[in-house]
Amino acid sequence: AKTPPADIGLIGLAVMGQNLILNMADHGYTVAVYNRTSSKVDDFIASAKASEPSAGRLVGCKSLKKFVSSIKRPRKIVLLVKAGWATDATIESVVPYLEKGDIIIDGGNALWTDTIRREQELTAKGLRFIGSGVSGGETGARFGPSLMPGGSKEAWKELEPIWKAISAKVDRKTGRPIEVDTPGQVAKGGEPCTVHIGENGAGHYVKMVHNGIEYIDMQLICEAYMLMKNLLGMKPDAMSEVFAGWNEGDLDSYLIEITADILQQKDPMNKRRFLVDSVLDTAGQKGTGKWTSTSALDLGIPANAIAEAVFARCLSAIKEERVSASKQLRGPKAPRLPMSKAKAIEAIREALYCSKICAYAQGFQLMAEAAREYDWKLDFGKIAKIFRGGCIIRARFLQKITEAYKADRRLQNLMLDPYFKKALHGGQGNWRSVVTMATNAGVPIPAFSSALAYFDGYRTAVLPANLLQAQRDYFGAHTFERTDKPRGQFFHVDWPEPG
Ligand code: NAP
Ligand code: ATR
Repeated sequence: AKTPPADIGLIGLAVMGQNLILNMADHGYTVAVYNRTSSKVDDFIASAKASEPSAGRLVGCKSLKKFVSSIKRPRKIVLLVKAGWATDATIESVVPYLEKGDIIIDGGNALWTDTIRREQELTAKGLRFIGSGVSGGETGARFGPSLMPGGSKEAWKELEPIWKAISAKVDRKTGRPIEVDTPGQVAKGGEPCTVHIGENGAGHYVKMVHNGIEYIDMQLICEAYMLMKNLLGMKPDAMSEVFAGWNEGDLDSYLIEITADILQQKDPMNKRRFLVDSVLDTAGQKGTGKWTSTSALDLGIPANAIAEAVFARCLSAIKEERVSASKQLRGPKAPRLPMSKAKAIEAIREALYCSKICAYAQGFQLMAEAAREYDWKLDFGKIAKIFRGGCIIRARFLQKITEAYKADRRLQNLMLDPYFKKALHGGQGNWRSVVTMATNAGVPIPAFSSALAYFDGYRTAVLPANLLQAQRDYFGAHTFERTDKPRGQFFHVDWPEPG
């Protein structure tokens, strides 16, 4: 029989699937492609033929039977379909055509518990399953995403060469992403932004926390923007210059860079306005930030800044209520700025950087607790490394996190690393001034404030939970531990009735 031509197959011809296919083809892989709505296969192949240098490596398939039989064994089939039940429906439709040892790779934003379930179900059928986070949006998928695969090591070995080839690359010396932006072009050398994250749902868990961090990263930038707009009266083009300047220093990151770009963009429907001023201030969400926060609550990890970023989106969504309340609830009279504008901008920069350190500290603490709970062997240095390129949160900062975990694999909290500790100590004065200025002026900055509360809470040896425990024992005989007795001994007293 003829050897099937395709090295790998991909199901799901929406934005992510199409781009990942072209990325694989550019790296020399022959890719079988399939989509539930089969007309999209013809459209995709036709448009690739018109403009893509690697179109000859695509095998368009309009039936699952042809698709599966076009792929070399053991088959590797990537799914990039809508997360949730659509993924289950797609797995169900393809499984009858597969043979023992074939591997399904789910690249969607699956909930990690679904990934664990799917792996168990498929293993029982003699198939293998990898749940891989794919980050970087459309451009990442096309020219190099950050890839976070979870599953058995032996399944990963089969996928590893392709995943390493198509992932983003960072310069081995500087840790900076190697830019690729032209079809047919591939990065030469460089360290791939993918690593085997761990067993079963570990890859999707880490992708979820990545998204939670992305939520807070975006929210912090939005708060810096709001402070410059509402406290300092700055216009978008002036703010764009500030962000561009920040992008030259510690805050150097993809999100700061695109913010600078966004703020200078004029509205195509009204050239006298900046586009950002025409965009409605209500954010939606598909749920990965909520999943991260729910997991933090389940595991008892104080990821308050990440949760705050989710609530900030919720508050933004009740636009009509806010507009009505703005006419009924009065804030303070705007006080005089206690410092020059230039000093205030520098203070905001430091507040942003300190808050960002706290946000990442929370994300990494959450992953550490999940590793303990779900028995994953997560390597945080390696995780920070694969976030350095390809994904939305890529930033110079991640090199510092990589170095922090390299210096101490068991680092308890990022804030305790000497580099980050120094940054927090040096920046906290300005951070506190910014939170105070905003509070006095009635400008909401929930992410800056909750990150600061986390910093202060974490460094406080005695919190008021002694009173809380006393209250619990008073009304519910819930018992308490004593400061002068060993941990694990519990006491109860008959509190007097209130007089
Ligand atoms: P999407 O809009 O999430 O999904 C569209 C794809 O799913 C189409 O191929 C569609 O097929 C298929 N699909 C939907 N319902 C289906 C069903 N019931 N049965 C079979 N197939 C079904 O596309 P996307 O934005 O490219 O994202 C793909 C995956 O990657 C998602 O899980 C997403 O969360 C994840 N992701 C997206 C991004 C991003 O930036 N967009 C980034 C990272 C990860 P039809 O053409 O037949 O409708
Ligand atoms: P990537 O991995 O490249 O970051 P992603 O996981 O699809 O891509 O998510 C990109 C970001 O866009 C996330 O912050 C995502 O938030 P959700 O998890 O809530 O989706 C955000 N995003 C996607 N669709 C959105 C929408 N309709 N409204 C607001 N944010 C959205």
